[in-house]
Amino acid sequence: MSSPRSSRLTGFYRLGVLERRRRLRELAGLPAEGFAAVDPGALSLDVADGMIENVIGVYALPFAVAVNFVVDGIETLIPMAIEEPSVVAASSNAARMARPHGFVTTLTAPVMIGQIQITNVADVVAGASALRAAGPELLAEARRLVPRLADRGGGPVAIDVRTLTAAGPDGGVLVVHLHVDCRDAMGANLVNTLCEALADRTAAIAGGRAGLRILSNLTDGRTVTVRCSIDDALLASEDAAGPEVRKAIAAASRFAELDPYRAATHNKGIMNGVDAVLVATGQDWRAVEAGAHAFASLGGKYGPLAVWRERPTGDGLDGELVMPLAVGTVGGALHVHPGARLALELAGAHTADRLAALCGAAGLATNLAALRALATEGIQRGHMALHARGLARAAGATGDLVDRVAAELAATGDVKADRAREVFARLAGAPMLKETP
Ligand code: MEV
Repeated sequence: MSSPRSSRLTGFYRLGVLERRRRLRELAGLPAEGFAAVDPGALSLDVADGMIENVIGVYALPFAVAVNFVVDGIETLIPMAIEEPSVVAASSNAARMARPHGFVTTLTAPVMIGQIQITNVADVVAGASALRAAGPELLAEARRLVPRLADRGGGPVAIDVRTLTAAGPDGGVLVVHLHVDCRDAMGANLVNTLCEALADRTAAIAGGRAGLRILSNLTDGRTVTVRCSIDDALLASEDAAGPEVRKAIAAASRFAELDPYRAATHNKGIMNGVDAVLVATGQDWRAVEAGAHAFASLGGKYGPLAVWRERPTGDGLDGELVMPLAVGTVGGALHVHPGARLALELAGAHTADRLAALCGAAGLATNLAALRALATEGIQRGHMALHARGLARAAGATGDLVDRVAAELAATGDVKADRAREVFARLAGAPMLKETP
């Protein structure tokens, strides 16, 4: 799919599902059957049965696109699969604020770390130095094992040794790190295979016993940095002027920098966006979660993955997110999962780098939206407005009536299912639907 002419889709959320599909087809040149991959039942029981064990069904989540994103100058639709209301709306709203300058990303090379643990090393100093001396030979051997990856510009790029302890219940313990550029693969299988292949030789060189051989999910060699800058005029809310909101968001960022309890929630707001894209695109989101939180603690104290500062010129806010993001656009669930393939198409993410950039942009956007809401009216008002729309639909409202019922519920602050049925019945002049037991 080519990138859409514009991702600025005003009023997209007001359309029905079929109309949204029609707009996206028109905008992004998807074929008529393009959305079959995310129709209920698109992942067949047979395919699901081949993916994991003991399958008894297929578990569905809503699949949506966040709009308004411009990432590295490219208009982009961000696919999201998530159960939490407000994440798609909040990130689309934040992306609208970021549009004038866009999200700008930089990525390291996609280098993953494989660990070979070596225990019972009699002399860790001698063992480590023997391993360092053998490094070039081990690296060359590792490269020979993955010739096709090396042809594509990737492959093992470095080896290093760390001493964990000189003596203990497992004797002296060393760990060898094999750094592998995985190109467009997430790389878990690749790295694990290499570690297993090199383990015995490595242990023999160190004079110890091979222990665990597995990748590290702390992928601090594979990070994305995302920046955005928001003009004061766009930060303003109904009740607060732009400069006031800017100062409040910078203060919220400092709160997260000072307090791990707040940093955890701040980062949860980031992962709302990141995970939604990871799930939609069939990625190992547990791996990214593990890496993100380990990375957030690397300085010895858990901290925020994104920070916000007032622009030095005093007329806006600058945000920066840095986090590890190990994703792939080949391998994994992508071979078999039709929805994940469609999500990559919609996002125009044909490389792992681009996918990581989009995940990071989504994370910075959800963080901005959360901080702006928290720093002004609190998040409940927005949540309640969305919840009211959900209740209006469940009560039977369609089209304009959804907004009218939701507006009345939100205005009275009584956002409940029975009240939604009452309001809908009155506005539609229809008999009230009975609650199904
Ligand atoms: C809720 O899913 C996420 C927030 O708690 C994030 C935050 O507090 O920054 C709103």
